Amino acid sequence: MMSKPILEVENVTFRYDKRLESEILNKISFTVNRGEWVAIIGHNGSGKSTLAKLLVGLLKPEKGSIHIAGIEMNEFSKWAVRCRTGLVFQNPENQFIGTSVQDDVAFALENMNLPYDEMKERVDKALDAVDMSSFRLHDPTQLSGGQKQRVAIAGILALKPDVLLLDEALVMLDPISRRELISTLQHLKISENISIISITHDMNEAAAADRIIVMKEGRIISNGAPKEVFSNNHIDLELPIVEQLRLKLIKRGRKVPHHYMTEEEMVAFLWK
Ligand SMILES: Nc1ncnc2c1ncn2[C@@H]1O[C@H](COP(=O)(O)OP(=O)(O)O)[C@@H](O)[C@H]1O
Ligand SMILES: [Mg+2]
Repeated sequence: MMSKPILEVENVTFRYDKRLESEILNKISFTVNRGEWVAIIGHNGSGKSTLAKLLVGLLKPEKGSIHIAGIEMNEFSKWAVRCRTGLVFQNPENQFIGTSVQDDVAFALENMNLPYDEMKERVDKALDAVDMSSFRLHDPTQLSGGQKQRVAIAGILALKPDVLLLDEALVMLDPISRRELISTLQHLKISENISIISITHDMNEAAAADRIIVMKEGRIISNGAPKEVFSNNHIDLELPIVEQLRLKLIKRGRKVPHHYMTEEEMVAFLWK
């Protein structure tokens, strides 16, 4: 049975400056299901970060509505609904407060007045989910970029959100850490049944999502499975490595399937 989407964005319009005519976001509508990973891509200035701020209640839509778990986000519900979406952004440096990794994750829970045992359990579980348990006593400022982002994600996971929202959160990482984090996110999605929205320029990250939304000048111009979105390349996307390889093979006259392939499909194909 399909349950109701965890996130429903309906006809959201937004402007920073109401005196200006042009909308920053123009009639944005989409839904995200529980346990679904949606990537949002689009050129700089297309409105992705603005959308992220609306989703966590930092900005208010001018028109339209945002429902999370069936509750409409507004002035009254904002505080209750807000904690259902956890936002991780680009620079983890600014997100640390604690002197150890575990303190830092626990800090996020400080205001929730949880019993000590529950707090400890949440911290342990969150660090475990991002493979950082063995670093619990380390100084967060001494970690690598990838490890810092893992701790930042753990801090969010400890709050048990329905939606994990990543705004270019992996952009500073080297390709290997990025790859490892993508695979961690894929596991999280399944083990926690959490929904993920990742705003990204990295087409390999986007290819890992269940669905891709393409934004252009404040509008959604495409919304579909990676296969569909990559094969009718609307904006001049830097295609995922696998797709670049597929197109190169075609150029060299190799017989290659005529559709976008996942990494696994490509590997299986090449081994044939
Ligand atoms: N705080 C702000 N005040 C006014 N305009 C802004 C503000 N933040 C972003 N913008 C404008 O909104 C548009 C969308 O920006 P943004 O949401 O950051 O896009 P993206 O994340 O896709 O690069 C851009 O034209 C940007 O200049
Ligand atoms: Mg942005």
